[in-house]
Amino acid sequence: MACFFRRSIAAKSGALFVLVLPVCQSSLNLVLLRQTADFRLSINTLRANGILPSSGDIQLQTENLASQLKQDSVLEDISAGRGAIHFKVNRKLLVQKILEPFGKDDERFSLNSELFNTLKRGTTLVEYSSPNIAKKFHAGHLRSTIIGNFIANLKQSLGHKVIRMNYLGDWGMQFGLLGAGFGQFGCQEKLKQNPLQHLFEVRWHCHDGLSMFGIFALQVYVQVNKEAEHNEDINQAARDFFKQLEQRESEAVSLWQQFREITVDEYQRVYKRLGVHFDIYSGESFHQDQAQEVVQQLQSRGLLKTSEKGTGVVDLSPAADMSKVYTVLRNDGTTLYITRDLAAAIDRTEKYQFDEMIYVTDKGQHKKHLNTTHVPFGLVRGMKTRSGEVVFLEDVLDEARARMLHNMSQSKTTKEMDDPEDTAEKVGISALIVQDFKGPLLSDYTFDWDRMLQAQGDTGVFLQYTHARLCSLIRRNEGAEAAVFDPSLLLEQTSVSVLQHLLRYDEVLYQSAQDLQPKHLVNFLLKLSHLIASAHRELPVKGSSRDVAQARLRLFSGACSVLANGMRILGITPVNKM
Ligand code: ARG
Repeated sequence: MACFFRRSIAAKSGALFVLVLPVCQSSLNLVLLRQTADFRLSINTLRANGILPSSGDIQLQTENLASQLKQDSVLEDISAGRGAIHFKVNRKLLVQKILEPFGKDDERFSLNSELFNTLKRGTTLVEYSSPNIAKKFHAGHLRSTIIGNFIANLKQSLGHKVIRMNYLGDWGMQFGLLGAGFGQFGCQEKLKQNPLQHLFEVRWHCHDGLSMFGIFALQVYVQVNKEAEHNEDINQAARDFFKQLEQRESEAVSLWQQFREITVDEYQRVYKRLGVHFDIYSGESFHQDQAQEVVQQLQSRGLLKTSEKGTGVVDLSPAADMSKVYTVLRNDGTTLYITRDLAAAIDRTEKYQFDEMIYVTDKGQHKKHLNTTHVPFGLVRGMKTRSGEVVFLEDVLDEARARMLHNMSQSKTTKEMDDPEDTAEKVGISALIVQDFKGPLLSDYTFDWDRMLQAQGDTGVFLQYTHARLCSLIRRNEGAEAAVFDPSLLLEQTSVSVLQHLLRYDEVLYQSAQDLQPKHLVNFLLKLSHLIASAHRELPVKGSSRDVAQARLRLFSGACSVLANGMRILGITPVNKM
């Protein structure tokens, strides 16, 4: 019983809700975590969690328990009622303790240590984005990019050491075709001297108006693929080129290297716009030799079989009758995607000593290794730009910015901005992110420009607008905020609702860390924004007495701090003016 109450009033914001954190059962923890003001615990709950004996005189036991749980300044009152125990929280203290940390100048919102000390921390490797060089960067890659970034941010904010990895599809038969195609349509000399210029020429030559190298490569790739359908010579050339690559022949390798470098530079530019970065650019190519080692190991253990087609396979069928086999080796001795993936996983485990590895890929790709979590996601339907069906990531970002800039031009505050383009870019990206994160990741969703950019709906624009409005309120009252404020001036229901919601922030992050779904945080921030909208209406700062204004400003700046912190974890850069 002694552990039923944890007195952590001295901890930072959010302290009060661990005050009643029983260590017995996590299900009860969550019940209690949501109690921030007065609450009651039913006899059933108390019995189910072993806090009360499962039988006996309820009234007596209840009174006993109430008297054991001594009331103090945090709890104004504890009383035994019918079938339950009632707890009355000291609201003034609640207000003060939640808002205290926001008074200090540059103190950023920090998490409740009591709660988060119960989390296991360690090194997490998150693999995300992972596009295929020389192929299209599609909506699935955008999803993987922003989801992985969110997970990495979340883990980091909870105190994990995070390694952000991009596992590029930089090896495989597509390079065979690309190499063969380049042999026909490209020019070595020009690519060496001035790659971008040469690509521009090719682009101009094609009259297609596309700008990324990946797209150029795609053109060659598509063209050569078409050819390859009826042209055995090209097929042979592709196989030959890939074979040269696998055998590390210098000419093939240097062409491949150029393709890779140019494309990675392009990607990095786009990642920068998205506020995404990686600690490591890995890729299939890195595990080429190791893939051969994996094959050798399989062979030495007698696990490698030869199929009728002459390919190297591993038989995973329960009856060992070759009814379920995985191909790990082509009949020309080259390795496959899965062989390299296996080698990559083994290599990472040895190199990075992580406690957990997280793969963020679409739901069609299964990943199962030890200490591995797969975060699968659904499809995006109908991602189109004004110019048409084919969508590349940059076009989507450009269009989000253009549409946002257009919407902003209707508002008068846009003229006061230093850099409206930059603001439109950040707000546009937050709209993309919120649209993507609102539901369960596994669900497919339909891309909808108009809906995602609505200023009033549950959108990223609404979050940004709320943040900018709070910043503007704080700016206008610069210097008015006092170090001390009177918490008894924040006891009306509107304030208490905001405060109770702020208290849930820790719990929401905790929950997100359990299932790695961003929807909890998104919906928490949207709800917070709605509560802030009411607070703006009902708790004016201007025209209030000095003390009331100071107390309200403290409430608004606390809310602003949590909002900004939550947005950053989602991968959104909050704007100060809009
Ligand atoms: N490059 C792959 C694709 O575009 C995703 C890579 C996923 N990660 C992995 N380790 N297999 O579909």
